[in-house]
Amino acid sequence: MISQRKGSIINVTSLAAYAPSSVNTMYTSTKSFLTNFTESLHMDLKRYGINVQCLCPGFARTDFHKKLSLKKEPVDHHFMNWMDPSEVVKHSLNYLETGKILCIPGAANRLIAGLISMLPRRFYYYLMGTFGSKKNTQDRFMLPAPTVT
Ligand SMILES: NC(=O)c1ccc[n+]([C@@H]2O[C@H](COP(=O)([O-])OP(=O)(O)OC[C@H]3O[C@@H](n4cnc5c(N)ncnc54)[C@H](OP(=O)(O)O)[C@@H]3O)[C@@H](O)[C@H]2O)c1
Repeated sequence: MISQRKGSIINVTSLAAYAPSSVNTMYTSTKSFLTNFTESLHMDLKRYGINVQCLCPGFARTDFHKKLSLKKEPVDHHFMNWMDPSEVVKHSLNYLETGKILCIPGAANRLIAGLISMLPRRFYYYLMGTFGSKKNTQDRFMLPAPTVT
């Protein structure tokens, strides 16, 4: 790509990159790394005419959640809809054409990412603690039950 002075790279990260979570500690952390890495790569490679995009989808109807053995089927909420992969790809290619680096497909997903970054961190931790599964963390890291004081 460098010698030809052209090319496109799309790294698929996730909306989760913006949402640290005790339920998906490694997933959200690696997605956050990849998002930062991709933006840095863009700054490195733009001088060679190479397009780099960081694609951060929200929930999408793929085999992903099935493979994680999640019992719940994708359910649309008023606020957050599950996207078809074709929609995600359409957004991504549109963004690539317009030269935008960060692609969060869907207005609701963009709003969520924006809100999370604006929330006071303590309030964010409280919200995630309320909605996250504490038992899940305990099981995965084989932690003893927290002592109630
Ligand atoms: N689905 C969502 O809601 C969602 C949301 C945000 C971000 N994402 C991200 O989107 C990306 C694609 O996920 P998806 O939703 O399309 O899931 P998917 O339907 O499960 O597809 C994952 C693909 O990755 C391949 N793969 C898995 N492990 C691999 C490995 N070690 N080496 C090479 N290929 C491997 C799988 O191949 P096999 O089928 O052969 O195993 C499969 O083709 C992931 O990075 C995921 O984090 C997904």
